[in-house]
Amino acid sequence: MTVRIAPSILSADFAKLGDDIAMCVEGGADWIHVDVMDGCFVPNLTFGAKVIETVRRLTTLPIDVHLMVVEPEKYLEGFVAAGANVLTIHQEVSPHLHRQVQLIKKLGAKAGVAVNPATPIASLRDVARDLDLVLVMSVNPGFGGQRFIPRALDRIRETRDLLRVEGSQAVLEVDGGVTRDTITGCWRAGADTFVAGNAIFAAKDPRGEINALRQRCSEVA
Ligand code: DX5
Ligand code: ZN
Repeated sequence: MTVRIAPSILSADFAKLGDDIAMCVEGGADWIHVDVMDGCFVPNLTFGAKVIETVRRLTTLPIDVHLMVVEPEKYLEGFVAAGANVLTIHQEVSPHLHRQVQLIKKLGAKAGVAVNPATPIASLRDVARDLDLVLVMSVNPGFGGQRFIPRALDRIRETRDLLRVEGSQAVLEVDGGVTRDTITGCWRAGADTFVAGNAIFAAKDPRGEINALRQRCSEVA
C-alpha cells in the first residue's frame, strides 16, 4: 500500500501561506488537505472557494477538501471550479449520500465520505464501492491540535475490512491527532492516507516531519 501524507493547512501560517505550501511540496507531501468549516456542522469557521483557488495557484499537488459543512452539495461545483481534486463530505449531514457521491464524481472530482467518531462504519457499506475515499475521523472535527481518540484504530480496521468485503478500491484516510506516535498504529490498522496539521506545522523542522511521519509507516511495512 502506498503511504500518502496530507498536511492540513488549518495549522499553516496564513500570513505566509505560499511559503508553507512550498515547504509541504519540498518536504514530499502527497496531497494538501483543506478543512472547510461552516460554524454550523462544527463549532468553527474557516475558508471556502477563494482559499482553494489560492492553494491551486500555489501547487500542482492534489487538493483534498474536507467539507465540515451542512448541505455540502451547495459548494461542490464551486470547489471543483476552484481546483479541488478530492471532495469529502460528512455522512452525518448527507441524507442522500448516494446521490451526493454521484454528483461529486459527475463534477469530475474524487468522492470521499467522512465519519465522525460515533458514526457507525457500517453506514458506508452500501456506497463503499462508489467511493474513492473513506475518511475516519480520529478526533471530533472542528479544531486542529486535538488528541487522537484511540478507538479510531478499531474503526480503521473495521473500515479496511468493509472495503475488502465490498470490493472497494477507496483510499482510507485518517484525520485528527496524527503524530509520530499515533501514525504507526493507524497504518497497521489499514489506513494509507494521513492528514496531519499540528504535527507538521508546529514541528521544529516541518519539512523533515513529513518524511518522519512517512518513515514511521515504512518501518512496519
Ligand atoms: C479537524 C480537521 C483536521 C485538522 C487536523 O477537524 O479536520 O484536518 O486540521 O489537525 P491535527 O493534525 O492538528 O489534529
Ligand atoms: Zn480535515
